[in-house]
Amino acid sequence: TRKAIGFDIGGTKISCGVITDKGDPVETLLPMHTPTDPTGTLDALRTAIQELRGRHPEVSAIGVGAAGLIEWPGGHIRWAPNNSYHDMPLRRLLEDSCELPTVVDNDANVAAWAEQVLSSAPNYMLFLTVGTGVGGGLVLGGELYRGKSGIGGEVGHLIVDPRGNIRCGCGNLGCLEAVASGTALGRYGREAATADPGGTLATLAGDPAKVNGETVFAAALAGDLASRAILRRAGDWLGIGIASLVNVLDLERIVIGGGVAAAGDLLLDSARASLERYLFARAHRRIPEVVAAAQGADAGWMGAGLLALNENAGMPSPV
Ligand code: BGC
Ligand code: NA
Ligand code: ZN
Repeated sequence: TRKAIGFDIGGTKISCGVITDKGDPVETLLPMHTPTDPTGTLDALRTAIQELRGRHPEVSAIGVGAAGLIEWPGGHIRWAPNNSYHDMPLRRLLEDSCELPTVVDNDANVAAWAEQVLSSAPNYMLFLTVGTGVGGGLVLGGELYRGKSGIGGEVGHLIVDPRGNIRCGCGNLGCLEAVASGTALGRYGREAATADPGGTLATLAGDPAKVNGETVFAAALAGDLASRAILRRAGDWLGIGIASLVNVLDLERIVIGGGVAAAGDLLLDSARASLERYLFARAHRRIPEVVAAAQGADAGWMGAGLLALNENAGMPSPV
């Protein structure tokens, strides 16, 4: 068996681990906070690689899924709305310092890859990651769709509500990410907590201003009705975005991953209902299923490692 180190760099945290070419996770490190500067991010990756290679010297490739616009196959990070890095040749930097074949791709793309390889997803599939940002990994005809240079599939920046006046981290108004991400949950939660300072959300956070996406998530699981309504609101927006994508691409399945997906049916049921409501010609077609990611929060780093092994399939591992 061959082994790779995989990373998933999100807007808030970095997950990583070692995976075999059969898809078995060998070791997972505790997620770390995404550093707020590019050098810190690179150092965090190098340190984790050193640590993991110390225990798994047979590792023969490195795969990184990173939020933002990443050129494929060059692995050059152009920019990301919720991360500090930009114009960073991450693939070259890692290959130079680690001397292992490396791939760098968008975080949602690698998560879609994990779903495709490990859960025999259908040939027309959208992996929607819902966390700090909203990202898309499109599988069309069984292949990851990256567009001309690798930066396609940015479904989080579909404009769904420009008049709602909510600004996205990218600078635009009304992106799907602005209304349906973990960041959006936090904003809705702070609004609700300010309106009801004695309620569960404000109490859990200690202060209405301190409510974030995770507070809403925890309160919803504990049965708080206001928080459940917030999850439904986000799910409703997701369904609107998904309906348009299904209209264009004729997808068979939508897989929801990322931190917010852990809310499960509290989020997915409203996404399903809204997809059904907005989908074109719904009486004349099969409505695609909307399911939670089979690999949960591990889809990203596992997919990155698997993609690295797949791209370097013919290469002997260095001794
Ligand atoms: C970025 C995407 C990324 C997604 C999830 C979005 O803000 O534009 O590139 O996939 O967040 O991290
Ligand atoms: Na993508
Ligand atoms: Zn945006």
